[in-house]
Amino acid sequence: MYKLVIQGGKPLKGTIKASGSKNSSLPILFASILADNPITLNNTPQLSDISTTLRLLMSMGADFILESNSSLFVDSSKLNNLVADYNLVKTMRASILVLGPMLTKYGEAKVSLPGGCAIGTRPVNLHLKALEELGASIRVENGYIYAKTDGLIGANIHFDQVTVTATENVIMAATLAKGTSIINNAAQEPEISDLCCFLNKMGAKISGIDTSIITVEGVPQLNGVEYSVCSDRIEVATYLVAAAITGGSITVKNANPQAMRSVLGKLIEIGADIKTENQSISLNMKGKRPKAVSIKTGTYPNFPTDMQAQFTALNTIADGHSSITENIFENRFMHIPELMRMGADLTLEGNTVVCKGVKSLTGAHLMATDLRASASLVLAGLAAKGTTTIERVYHLDRGYETIEEKLKSLGADIERVQD
Ligand code: UD1
Repeated sequence: MYKLVIQGGKPLKGTIKASGSKNSSLPILFASILADNPITLNNTPQLSDISTTLRLLMSMGADFILESNSSLFVDSSKLNNLVADYNLVKTMRASILVLGPMLTKYGEAKVSLPGGCAIGTRPVNLHLKALEELGASIRVENGYIYAKTDGLIGANIHFDQVTVTATENVIMAATLAKGTSIINNAAQEPEISDLCCFLNKMGAKISGIDTSIITVEGVPQLNGVEYSVCSDRIEVATYLVAAAITGGSITVKNANPQAMRSVLGKLIEIGADIKTENQSISLNMKGKRPKAVSIKTGTYPNFPTDMQAQFTALNTIADGHSSITENIFENRFMHIPELMRMGADLTLEGNTVVCKGVKSLTGAHLMATDLRASASLVLAGLAAKGTTTIERVYHLDRGYETIEEKLKSLGADIERVQD
């Protein structure tokens, strides 16, 4: 097992390049099942969630070649085992994205239920309801979803709650359905738009991209294409917070400022000087202590839940009081007790964290619990006085490509060491 050891207190300075988006790459890799021939995907990040997806696709009969660090040639066009096994699904909830493509292309799918996770129960009822509305018959037995259809039929679907992966699952299923589907109250995350652009390049007929009403006209078949995934807005935002929490000044290239307006607004509110260009974002704290900001997470374009933990870390050393309300997941506060062990003054009241900024944190021995909570501990460690050791860094490797290399290139004192 690896751990990260950080000597805090060094302002980050320099330029890094953002990786491709994890949350775009995953649905797009699952969408490769829909194609009648192979796809080439560029700008993919090297992450354990990507390896898990490739292993899952391979277990069903797909093949892939790593053409370069960020380029994947994937042939999922002829699957021979329509089962997504528990052992792979349990390690990554996004595996549920295999369901829509497999069902619509092959007329059947057996997919393990993902189960709960550290941040909440995370049911998949809305995925199943929407697929049933497209005509699938679905039963859940022995921890598996069994789905069947003689051919999905376009339908008018309304999501009672905005959900990212269920929107993606139903869009993918609708691409090969007979007739037109209208998806109301669809999630509008940029990663969904990226998936839709990829599917349209394959020959799908999707309109209403970037809106909450998406229309999918079914087509008989889709073709393999070459595509570059968008940059990872959560990774970009995490590095910007790393610069802010250390009083530093960095530029992140390969970023899309348009997709990050809510986060950039909050960074300006804390006192950061932000400059954006077409594909890059610069943040300069000019050595100042950040000002506390209050945050409420929401669906896009509101403040992303995937940045809640990182901004909580930032608020712990900010000047003033703040409240951070988590509206998406019921238990996304695993970082709170760990941050308190570093001297943070935090109180959890229902789904709100009340934070009184302290002048500084002190290094401590910490346990990473989930992906974004772990990122917040790294940020706190970068700002803290002394040594911070973070165990279970495999959580970070799910979503941050070579995190310690990127931070080191910005001047951080961080090492990955084996137990
Ligand atoms: C996706 C992202 C994740 C992000 C989250 C919210 C991917 C691979 N993951 O996760 O990084 O944190 O969006 O932006 O893109 N819900 C139900 N029933 C369902 C589906 C969802 O009750 O069938 C609930 C969830 O428990 C949660 C809320 O809806 O409370 C939103 O979840 P959802 O948008 O579905 O998150 P994911 O797609 O799993």
